[in-house]
Amino acid sequence: MTPNRIPQAVRTQAAEQGGAPYTTPEGEACLIIPTPAGDRVFVNSCPHRRLPLDRRGRLQFSGEQRLLVCPNHGAKFEPESGRCVAGPCFGKHLQRVPDLEA
Ligand code: FES
Repeated sequence: MTPNRIPQAVRTQAAEQGGAPYTTPEGEACLIIPTPAGDRVFVNSCPHRRLPLDRRGRLQFSGEQRLLVCPNHGAKFEPESGRCVAGPCFGKHLQRVPDLEA
């Protein structure tokens, strides 16, 4: 496995669940979120307190926009941009990992 490839099984899980966490062989904790603009990959770290955005391997989404919800203090993020649109880190962004999006 090359370090810049996400296994198909993880992409399938993300497609079925709306998103999934993934840890690279190098140990970087990420999230993969399918969007109409293509898969987005972010570092699995909330800009508020740098806590993980999954809970027991699952991501939580809210509303028709399917905003990603931080399980710690409820910040909400746009899946395509990673921008926080509500909560304690309003206006900050999740860190994208574009190398893993292809
Ligand atoms: S750690 Fe995500 S909102 Fe606080």
